[in-house]
Amino acid sequence: MHHKIFSQIVKEIIQFRESSSTNRVGISASYEELCSCVNRDLPDIGETSEKALNTLVSSVKNALIHNVNPRYYGFVIGGSTPVSIAADWLTSGWDQNGQVYNTSPAAAIIEDVVTEWILKLLELPEKASIGYVTGAQMANFVGLSIARNSVLSDYLWDIDTKGLQNAPHINIICGECCHGTIHSGIRMMGLGTENVKTVPNDREGRILIKELHSTILDCEGPTILCLQAGNVNTGAFDNFEEAIDFAHLKKVWVHVDGAFGLWARATTKYRLLTAGVQKADSWSVDAHKWLNVPYDSGMVIVRNSDEHKRLKTTRCAYAGESDEKLRDGSVWVPENSRRARAFVLYATLRNMGRKGVELLIEKSCELAKQFEMEIKNIPSTRILNDVVLNQVLFRIEPQSVADLDSFNKALDK
Ligand SMILES: Cc1ncc(COP(=O)(O)O)c(C=O)c1O
Repeated sequence: MHHKIFSQIVKEIIQFRESSSTNRVGISASYEELCSCVNRDLPDIGETSEKALNTLVSSVKNALIHNVNPRYYGFVIGGSTPVSIAADWLTSGWDQNGQVYNTSPAAAIIEDVVTEWILKLLELPEKASIGYVTGAQMANFVGLSIARNSVLSDYLWDIDTKGLQNAPHINIICGECCHGTIHSGIRMMGLGTENVKTVPNDREGRILIKELHSTILDCEGPTILCLQAGNVNTGAFDNFEEAIDFAHLKKVWVHVDGAFGLWARATTKYRLLTAGVQKADSWSVDAHKWLNVPYDSGMVIVRNSDEHKRLKTTRCAYAGESDEKLRDGSVWVPENSRRARAFVLYATLRNMGRKGVELLIEKSCELAKQFEMEIKNIPSTRILNDVVLNQVLFRIEPQSVADLDSFNKALDK
């Protein structure tokens, strides 16, 4: 048994996380310098577990970003809480295969429980289904794939047997500020970005409603609309009330990318920003962002679980018969063998409780407001967005500098 390495690794992780509070968050060494630390020899004869891990640590130590620290402001990426890390280790240690009920009843039952909790927390329809995926990119891809299948089936086209060849043309409507993963999803689905009808946004990144309505009216045939809860630069939300009802009059499927913004629904104070979002047909949300669990944790949520279930109609021969009562986690996602992701969510949500989640979101938003105030007090700064959520966008504009764009870009380094 090699259990000693587990305690070795715990020590290493504690050390890393403690050092993160004082270490520089980013990295100043060059690519060449970082590569020179990496042992690139594949040994003929395997090393001991301890040696292999030590080599991994010494190879990458200097190339690790300290994003687990509250001083990290780089991107919209979360940290990870102690309980979520520990539950993540349990997930690996238990090594459950979340494919079908029989490969891990534990994974299946916990996915069912967490599904109920998430739908309650986010105030989404209680009969909706959730697929536990790697992140919002995959959630957008799955949500849009189900949308594509559904709008084609409205036009009596069965994509499972006929595929996309000769299928009715599908219109996809997106705001010009939609996240890049929506476009990647559209490409991966074989729909082609040339088929996207782009609707202009206002300066906060919200889709313009009048233009959206006329775009919807111009669309003939199967149509999908992508909206956004939480613009990645400004935190702004599309006007769901005005967009979704109108889209539904024309039988348009509405998918909402709520990678981080959908969490606003877990609070009394910020829920209003998302008013009407519950009327959509599918949603994406990440847990590895605002819920601060380790990476590899996103959710695709679909109003009509029957349509979600049809995503994958073929079962592997060895998976056995399905049973309506028993959850098969892989039915709701592209992967077959898969990590039991919901264990981390279960432990994290138990640890935080409803109130804890609410506090987390509210506190981040309050801190963003405070950040805005402090920035405003610094001479030559300009706030660029309406701070409605947890995003503060600003730039520094000293009078003495002619090329402000290059100046601000250089500050990024
Ligand atoms: C609005 C939005 N959608 C999608 C994504 C992609 O998320 P992930 O990196 O988890 O795939 C992000 C990430 O920043 C995002 O902010």
